Parts: sequence; structure tokens; C-alpha cells
Amino acid sequence: MKFFVDTADVDAIRELNDLGMVDGVTTNPSLILKSGRNIEEVTREICGIVAGPVSAEVVANDAEGMIREGRHLAKIADNITIKVPLTWDGLKACKVLSDEGHKLNVTLCFSAAQAILAAKAGATFISPFIGRLDDINLDGMELIAQIREIYDNYDFKTEILAASIRSVNHITDAARIGADVITAPPAVIKSMVSHVLTDKGLAQFNADWAKTGQKIV
Ligand code: E4P
Repeated sequence: MKFFVDTADVDAIRELNDLGMVDGVTTNPSLILKSGRNIEEVTREICGIVAGPVSAEVVANDAEGMIREGRHLAKIADNITIKVPLTWDGLKACKVLSDEGHKLNVTLCFSAAQAILAAKAGATFISPFIGRLDDINLDGMELIAQIREIYDNYDFKTEILAASIRSVNHITDAARIGADVITAPPAVIKSMVSHVLTDKGLAQFNADWAKTGQKIV
């Protein structure tokens, strides 16, 4: 399973990348806003830190505009993946840009039917949003399972990039189902390390070790 970080915070990306935890990065207009930085400048910096795919999202709503923006964003670095929304125009842009040899991430996917169209249009990645489905009392993880089944039935090469991840359980559940990639905020990835029994066990070891009066070095 590949780990993408869902952020435009370069310090957070650097920290996780140094630990070998980062196979790629996803950004979106909201994350660019949160970073307070210029999209091209921050995307270029991220591409210099991470060797894997870095998703940069178009903001035009028409296919022509998306294609123009996508080609422009792709010039930032060799590891840019162009992110387009799952609309009819987004699929048109996906087809044109993927035919040109670019990597495409089709985002804002909320149904298996949409995921089929993205695969047919040549998407490199499909981004089903788990958390936003859960937010409206639908089952985000069930969507990951449906897309996995369909893509496997027909040997679609599009990778399932489980997105809108809000919890550690989202990551482990997506991994069990067989999502190819997860993209999660740095805080969620870091919280994967936490376990109450680890903390309790370590406290006990520390206390017992102090009682021995020994030192290792
Ligand atoms: C994915 O590419 C998106 O940037 C992201 O996962 C959306 O997550 P959110 O629903 O928490 O905003």
C-alpha cells in the first residue's frame, strides 16, 4: 500500500518523508488556501522534496480550461499528477491529458459508476472520498470495496486512491479492502503510532529499569 500525504504543509511533508512514509502528495484548492502560499511556488517545493506523484488540482470548470491549466501545472515538475474533478468536462480533460502522457488523478468521486467512467477516461488514480460520504451517513468504505471489485473484474489499471480520510480505522479498513493508495492528513498518519498499551507498557519498563540502577552506556 502506498502512502500519500494530503497537505500543502511542506514542513509536515518533509518530516514524514524523512521517515520514508511518503510515496506521494495530494493537494487541492482548500489545502492551498490553508497553506497561505502561491500554488506554483508551494507545488514546486513539494515536488522537490518528494520523488513520487504530487497531485495539483485544476480550478477551471470547463474541459478546455482544465486542459490548459493541467498542461501548465505539469510543467512545474516531472512528478506532477494533474487532478481533475469527476464531471463530464473533467473526464474530457482526463482523456486528452492522459493521451498526452500525463498522470491524472480524478477527484471528488462518490459512486462506483463515476469510478468506472474515470477508468475508461484513462485516470491513473481515482479518488473516492470516504469521510465526506460518512459525513452524510453513507458508507464511504463500502464505496472502496465496490470499486475494488469492479476494477478487479475488468482488470482496470486505474489505482484506487482512498481519500478524505479522517481516522486510523479508515486507513486500516481501506488497506484490508485493497485500496492501492491512501491519502491522509499528516496528523492522521502520525496518530497511527498511538496505542494505550504501548504507552502503558513503556511506562512500566521505564519504572522497572530505574529500579535496577543500571545503565546501558
Ligand atoms: C483528496 O485528494 C482530497 O484532497 C482530500 O482527501 C479531501 O479530504 P477532506 O474531505 O477531508 O477535505
